[in-house]
Amino acid sequence: MLIRRSKLSNSSRPGISRLGNSQLAAYFFVRNQRQFRYIGLFALIGFYGSNLSWRPGRWLFFSLLVSVVSVPTVLADNFMEANAQRAGPGNPIVGNIISASERCQECHGEDGNNTDSRIPKHAGQYASYLVKQLHDFQSGARQHEVMSIMAEDLGGSDMTDIAAYFASKQIMQGQHTQDYPLARKLFFEGDKGREVEPCNRCHGDNGKGGLAGNVIYPVIGGQNKNYLRAQLVNWKLGERTNSPNGVMNKIAKPLTDDEIEALANYISGL
Ligand code: HEC
Ligand code: HEC
Repeated sequence: MLIRRSKLSNSSRPGISRLGNSQLAAYFFVRNQRQFRYIGLFALIGFYGSNLSWRPGRWLFFSLLVSVVSVPTVLADNFMEANAQRAGPGNPIVGNIISASERCQECHGEDGNNTDSRIPKHAGQYASYLVKQLHDFQSGARQHEVMSIMAEDLGGSDMTDIAAYFASKQIMQGQHTQDYPLARKLFFEGDKGREVEPCNRCHGDNGKGGLAGNVIYPVIGGQNKNYLRAQLVNWKLGERTNSPNGVMNKIAKPLTDDEIEALANYISGL
């Protein structure tokens, strides 16, 4: 299969200047919601505080009011913080436009949740992980007949914007249809004898990944099954070697075909 990405000249590339006012306003609001919420909270405290005297009933009402307002605020902030960390510094609105015009959405899905089991989903994937893979395709550290061409002339800011777009989408989700005890054991306990580290130690209990210092543990839970199987085989055979210190090669090497099959089934269901 040989696919050539349409070569767009820079002047025909969509940019932030081509966004409509409403898209820009929405983007500004989302980026600044936290400030708006705090301003609202302090205004409320000021408003009620100035009308209250030292009567216990009123103070009880007052503190309840503050907690009712602030608890969801704190929860929402944590949620926003986690999402911002996932999406990184790129501009998701621009990323949507570029990933449509650069044909990424044709294969990876409009919202990053494609259904062709051989092609990875990107929805909710860490942006920094996606960018690392694109750099690795460009440098040849990771190779694939289609993706090496697709990544060839993507600029740095295109990469971060596209990654931010997919990362900000509803995170990939599996169906949990069946249990795979062999895989679940490896996932949570590993196999000390063969030096297989438990997957959840790095990828999290639901396989939704994480960031630790400079290392990015990608989301694998809910990823497409055939893609997961292919990557585990690639790590095992040394056909993919771009994980830090070869960690994934070490882990996949001793796995049997049955174990890889079970893991691909189990993890795609998470
Ligand atoms: C013709 C289909 C196709 C198109 C178009 C395409 N991809 Fe891919 N992409 C793939 C396949 C297949 C893989 C799996 C590669 C492998 O097996 O190593 C992949 C893998 C990736 C990965 C690695 C994901 C992971 O979880 O490690 C990234 C990142 C990616 N593509 C980004 C893009 C971007 C950005 C574009 C647009 C510039 C794009 N792709 C266009 C088919 C496509
Ligand atoms: C010590 C940490 C660690 C452990 C334990 C670990 N992984 Fe990974 N895994 C990584 C890192 C880091 C990457 C990203 C490599 C890269 O940058 O390309 C990765 C990547 C992957 C990928 C590729 C994801 C993609 O989108 O292409 C799969 C699949 C995977 N791991 C499966 C597993 C399975 C299954 C286990 C348990 C048997 C496991 N991992 C245990 C650190 C770990």
